[in-house]
Amino acid sequence: MMTAKDYMDRENKYGAHNYEPIPVVLEKGEGIYVWDVAGKKYFDFLSAYSAVNQGHCHPKIVNAMVDQAKKLTLTSRAFYNDVLGEYEEYITKYFGYDKVLPMNTGAEAVETAIKLSRKWGYQKKKVKDNEAKIIVCQDNFHGRTTTIVSISTDPDARADYGPYTPGFITIPYNNIPALEKALEDKNVVSFLLEPIQGEAGVFVPDEGYLKKASELCKKNNVLFMADEVQTGIARTGKMLACDHENVRPDILILGKAVSGGVFPVSAVLSDDDIMLCIKPGQHGSTFGGNPIAGKVAMAALEVVKDEKLAENAERLGKIFREEFRSIKSDMIELVRGKGLLNAVVIRNQPGKTALDVCIAMAENGVLAKPTHGNIIRFAPPLVITEEQLREAMDKIKEVFKKFE
Ligand SMILES: Cc1ncc(COP(=O)(O)O)c(C=O)c1O
Repeated sequence: MMTAKDYMDRENKYGAHNYEPIPVVLEKGEGIYVWDVAGKKYFDFLSAYSAVNQGHCHPKIVNAMVDQAKKLTLTSRAFYNDVLGEYEEYITKYFGYDKVLPMNTGAEAVETAIKLSRKWGYQKKKVKDNEAKIIVCQDNFHGRTTTIVSISTDPDARADYGPYTPGFITIPYNNIPALEKALEDKNVVSFLLEPIQGEAGVFVPDEGYLKKASELCKKNNVLFMADEVQTGIARTGKMLACDHENVRPDILILGKAVSGGVFPVSAVLSDDDIMLCIKPGQHGSTFGGNPIAGKVAMAALEVVKDEKLAENAERLGKIFREEFRSIKSDMIELVRGKGLLNAVVIRNQPGKTALDVCIAMAENGVLAKPTHGNIIRFAPPLVITEEQLREAMDKIKEVFKKFE
């Protein structure tokens, strides 16, 4: 029989070393729990970076996938299929947009939004050829493609991948004067941002920032593009993080939990005057809009409404932050977040780092992962109950006690 070490050694030997996982080897998931190869059960407090909001292996979503997989998996967009239109109608009505452009991963959806806003800039705003600019924020995370790492300010994401794609202006996040200044450039076509910066460590901007930023964009004829790949689909206590400020992005970017983590599904939504700037042959993806993705996404989005996941995230997020703030430990610098997207900043000391905490939590049955060395993100599946949350909090508290 293979041990956990055997599994880890094999990945290490045959796989590229572009990740550094917490040393647990998982083989099963159900709801908020996962089990390792020795049968040990854990609370999953990462949810595959907020892709598994609906819980692991949700039967409704898995059944939708299995049923469709037996019938028709992929046609490519060379032909019509009987699911895509149903899905397109479903998701556009769900989020209130004229059109959707289906892709697979979050990064592809961001790339799509970048291309779409440039097209719109040249065709509708009449920016001169090759002069379009897009405003982005420091410490963003939008994925891993060459253009997206060109706009990253994280040396790990960016170094040695140049030459970088031009046409971007980087401004500080949560800074309205900087945005106003950047918008003076008449070649700006769009502003791309995360409504809460997830990967950077769950930076929640000041209240009113999103509203003001979207108003400024409108005033300057610039598209407001919200990357809700991590914050969307009820994670922050509303269907979209932009809903907290009643902001409707001109271009909405979704991924991850659109499929409940069952299948790679991402989407870009916008209205006709923008979306129809892209004509046949000008953008696409072999797998984008495949029938399995359509069925899976409809089931996953239905679960979010049926099981009132946004309301649950809003209510339990408050309890999570309250409970965490009640922990008396000089290791905890601060706790921040919205809904069930939260982060705890650790005062790293030798033997007491965020990684040490995560390894000790794993031993005690709770899985989370550090980001940027000293921040731990806590994002359990949104199907978690109050009782389960309190049980997990007790385990987390035990860990901090052990470090005293
Ligand atoms: C805000 C945001 N955008 C885009 C992405 C990229 O998604 P993917 O890894 O599916 O390409 C992520 C992934 O963490 C993300 O958090």
